Amino acid sequence: MKSKILEFLKTNEGYISGQELSDILGVSRTSIWKVINQLKAEGYGIESVSNKGYRLIDSPDILSKAEIQYDLKTTVLGKEIIVYNQVDSTNKQAKKLAIDGEKHGTVILAEEQLEGKGRRGRLWKSPPNKGIWLSIILRPDLHPSKASMLTLIAGLAVVHTINRYTKNQAFIKWPNDIIINEKKVSGTLTEMSSELDVINYVVVGIGVNVNTTDFDDEIKEIATSLANEEGKSFERALLVKGILESFEKFYDQFMVDKDLSHLINEYEDNCINVDKTVRVILDGQEKIGKAIGITKMGELRFVQASGEEMILNSGEVSV
Ligand code: BTN
Repeated sequence: MKSKILEFLKTNEGYISGQELSDILGVSRTSIWKVINQLKAEGYGIESVSNKGYRLIDSPDILSKAEIQYDLKTTVLGKEIIVYNQVDSTNKQAKKLAIDGEKHGTVILAEEQLEGKGRRGRLWKSPPNKGIWLSIILRPDLHPSKASMLTLIAGLAVVHTINRYTKNQAFIKWPNDIIINEKKVSGTLTEMSSELDVINYVVVGIGVNVNTTDFDDEIKEIATSLANEEGKSFERALLVKGILESFEKFYDQFMVDKDLSHLINEYEDNCINVDKTVRVILDGQEKIGKAIGITKMGELRFVQASGEEMILNSGEVSV
């Protein structure tokens, strides 16, 4: 009901009365009044004028369930959203919830993570109220060997969303880092529980540095935020909606063939590595080559100076 009331307030130019809201939503005026007070407590500027009703003056940049679900154009993703103010890691919470049976498509968000996890055991700095720290629980009917492709789907969803709102162009660095002006703004950590041939659940964890402006010395040469690159702050809920909508669209396309055959062009068009020289570590050895694209399984194709084409299925590349 909260997201419905928010929707009416956001789409209504003038005042909307408690009576009108109660008639439309079929609930008492007291219930409406309670929700209005909750919204005010969350930071929404709502003007209440007797005999006129309520009017929204100002929306805070918060990641509430109501804010994200209002006007969210997905069919499955984000139908259930759990938001924490502070949490160790949304991936950790998502895994616990998945073990307890939480359904496909549930989204876990936090305003702050105390132990945000990056790839390769790294820490992911997740300061309060500045970024998007979200995890999606998925239960795909997929062979476990294909789950890593969901990471590329996340990369596509994030790059598309960012590019809708920024002047600078964002790119994917294979497999899923999102880069603006040669610095990283977003990364994905995909974790899975499976048996030999069945997936129990997958947790796709996405972190986006949105409004952070101060980075620690040890990462400030390689990390950035949308705010730093664009010189303005962003409404995080809008970006979350975009990520969920794009993720669902690409996920549905992916699940048709259970590979990336229909998304290769889309991915390569947004990938910073294509047609560039890359350094990769393969079997413990550094190799230098030119990236030429990805395979339908999401591996990086690159050609060495000798002309030999090689395929990299995991690891990191440096541009
Ligand atoms: C990377 O190293 O690039 C991956 C970073 C992934 C960070 C996100 S933030 C939300 C989710 N919860 C975590 O603990 N990690 C992921």
